Amino acid sequence: MCNFKLASLSGLALVANLVSAVTYSVPSEVGTGGLEYYPLDAAPLSLSFEFFAFPSYMTNVTATMRCLENWKDLTGVWPHIRSGGTTQDRALFDPDTDAYVVYYVADPADAPASLTFGPNYMELASEYPGEVTIGLNRGKNQIDNTIAAAQSAVDQMGNLYAIELGNEPEYYSGVQPIASGTWNPSVDSAIQNNWDIIVGEALGMTNIIQAGNSLPSSWSSTQLIESGNETVYQYVKEYSRHNYPGGSVSSLMSHANIASNIHSFDEDVASANGIGKPLFLGETNSVSGGGATDVSPLFGAALWTMDYTVRAAASNITRTYFHQGTIGAAPYNMWGRYSGGNPYVGAYAAVAFMAEGSYVAALDSGSDNYAVYATYGSDGKPLRVLLYNSDYYTSGTRPTESFTLTGLDVSSLQAKRLTAPTASSRQDRGEPATYGGQGFDDGTCVIDGDETWELVTVSGGSATVSVGASEAVVVHF
Ligand SMILES: *[C@@H]1O[C@H](CO)[C@@H](O)[C@H](O)[C@H]1NC(C)=O
Ligand SMILES: *[C@@H]1O[C@H](CO)[C@@H](O)[C@H](O)[C@H]1NC(C)=O
Ligand SMILES: *[C@@H]1O[C@H](CO)[C@@H](O)[C@H](O)[C@H]1NC(C)=O
Repeated sequence: MCNFKLASLSGLALVANLVSAVTYSVPSEVGTGGLEYYPLDAAPLSLSFEFFAFPSYMTNVTATMRCLENWKDLTGVWPHIRSGGTTQDRALFDPDTDAYVVYYVADPADAPASLTFGPNYMELASEYPGEVTIGLNRGKNQIDNTIAAAQSAVDQMGNLYAIELGNEPEYYSGVQPIASGTWNPSVDSAIQNNWDIIVGEALGMTNIIQAGNSLPSSWSSTQLIESGNETVYQYVKEYSRHNYPGGSVSSLMSHANIASNIHSFDEDVASANGIGKPLFLGETNSVSGGGATDVSPLFGAALWTMDYTVRAAASNITRTYFHQGTIGAAPYNMWGRYSGGNPYVGAYAAVAFMAEGSYVAALDSGSDNYAVYATYGSDGKPLRVLLYNSDYYTSGTRPTESFTLTGLDVSSLQAKRLTAPTASSRQDRGEPATYGGQGFDDGTCVIDGDETWELVTVSGGSATVSVGASEAVVVHF
């Protein structure tokens, strides 16, 4: 970006009303400037695959491994995977089947009502070069079957990260045998705590359970932690909340809404950290039930994906797993067999911004449409700054916001821009998003296009970057 051009534009009355300005001071050293800094995980943006669909994603969808490896190319670490979801509580382990999964659906867009899986499911998961969390059944109340499945995972998966015992138990009532009596958070917690101990003891392992896995605030991690004790905690590796903010695309991508949504997990972060455990968003995406066609595949949802992941990391939510549902049938899926979705590009920008960072801090208060974050390297120096203009843009002249960064002790910076024609743009309707001029090919997820860097000049320790409505820019130090 050229300062001269911005300065002259703001002098023109006609254009001036389309350009406004915000200023942020970038601390030159981690831990300074009165900001809250949090440690960054090596792969804070991870993926969750619906339990029954995981083998198909891994064996039948060409784009899967390339999409995941594109992120690994940025960070040096394969993203984590969680296999789970509603169908984990419909699944039973069959030690005698050679199949990954066995189920019947009348329509390929359906999820199965019941299924079995065999040891080869764990063998397939073991082939993934990153770490994997496996979601197992609690709803059916068949703990011996769940222990057999867990033992198979432990035996075969050198890359096993954690095991879940049940998914979203708030929906068990009237559906799952374990909830046949009174069913509420305290009944569920008592059962969950017992299962953590029984399964942990059977495996002879501590720090193995990803606990919680619920959506509503009444089924919070805080509630679960308060119901437990040291015996239970030793088996828990981390606590996990699920989250689907929903709403329209303009409300979803609004930075003030994102900041307030992430704040709703502050108490759970504090409760988990208070007993020495991290909090994850173990299953999340834009809109529940597979997504919404008028929200989830849009570029606005890509911007949400980016800002939401970074805001979570900047609030000490250690890892965020974006859920991928039935192949070709869930609007929020980042890719399918034939086409890619713009949310993948938003995720790519978030991964690029946080890659190899040691700390992250939010520079904005979360009260308006403009977001600014900084990552810091292991040397404590600034690595990158992310600027996000969440003003909703769909047509006409695209307004811009001038982000001025002060306190810079470098002479120039380079930047990559995350953009698309409008907040409504969809890759599968001919309007692919790009990051630094590059996009990702349909069906293969191969990176495509010329890599484009913008030069940002620094003068007197400050630099101004123009960010269009519904756009973001990652500035590299
Ligand atoms: C892969 O797709 C084929 C054809 O649709 C199907 O028969 C097979 O069961 C799928 N494999 C998995 C692991 O889902
Ligand atoms: C801890 O909680 C477990 C599970 O509820 C229970 O069985 C055990 O008695 C408790 N231990 C203590 C020391 O309170
Ligand atoms: C953030 O979470 C990590 C991982 O659970 C924890 O070690 C740390 O104490 C937490 N808080 C801060 C301020 O870093």
